[in-house]
Amino acid sequence: MNDTARSQYWENRYQERDIPWDLNQPAPAFASFLDSPQSPKPGETAVLGCGTGNDALLFAQRGFTVTGFDFAPGAIASARDRAREMNVQAEFLQRDIFTLAPEFPEKFDYLVEHTCFCAILPEQRDRYVEIARSLLKPQGLLIGIFFTHSRPDGPPFGTTPEEIYTYFQPAFDILSFASAEASIPRRKGEEHFGLLQRV
Ligand SMILES: C[S@@+](CC[C@H](N)C(=O)[O-])C[C@H]1O[C@@H](n2cnc3c(N)ncnc32)[C@H](O)[C@@H]1O
Repeated sequence: MNDTARSQYWENRYQERDIPWDLNQPAPAFASFLDSPQSPKPGETAVLGCGTGNDALLFAQRGFTVTGFDFAPGAIASARDRAREMNVQAEFLQRDIFTLAPEFPEKFDYLVEHTCFCAILPEQRDRYVEIARSLLKPQGLLIGIFFTHSRPDGPPFGTTPEEIYTYFQPAFDILSFASAEASIPRRKGEEHFGLLQRV
């Protein structure tokens, strides 16, 4: 499958409203992180593979300056509609995340990852880490929920904590990485929440 076919695959899913991954709410692990004393001060934030904007809109509501990226036009249209309906300020741009580096070099204080890493092909993961590193300012923080299921095939392609350490070090310091305490019931025990700081 080439890049165009891949984006068309996701766009078809949005057009057919076949989007079982869409929680229609922010991921609980992000909400509890932002409610905690560890919540970082707001800054420039990118949400990769933002879908219909559930997580992007949460960060925007908490004062972060948010840009959501997704290559499916249907996802971007829905995210913009929801931002308007909720009267929340956030930008949503139709982009392939693998093309972002020249446009946004070291632009962001934070990257938000939730079910994008598991949506790309496993062989694209090294490129994902490189893109994440190049979008973040030095010491910028990747705030991520990783789908650590062990079912074969995908998407969603599962990963393991060991793989995350292998992929992201040495470009990132793994500040914390643990089984997510807050998950929706059907993802309980299959998500890890991590804070990864760009070196
Ligand atoms: C499983 S969905 C998750 C969407 C959203 N994060 C959520 O939790 O609802 C994966 C998303 O990543 C997007 N995506 C996959 N590969 C992408 C790429 N290379 N560039 C931009 N978006 C991508 C898809 O269009 C889709 O919206």
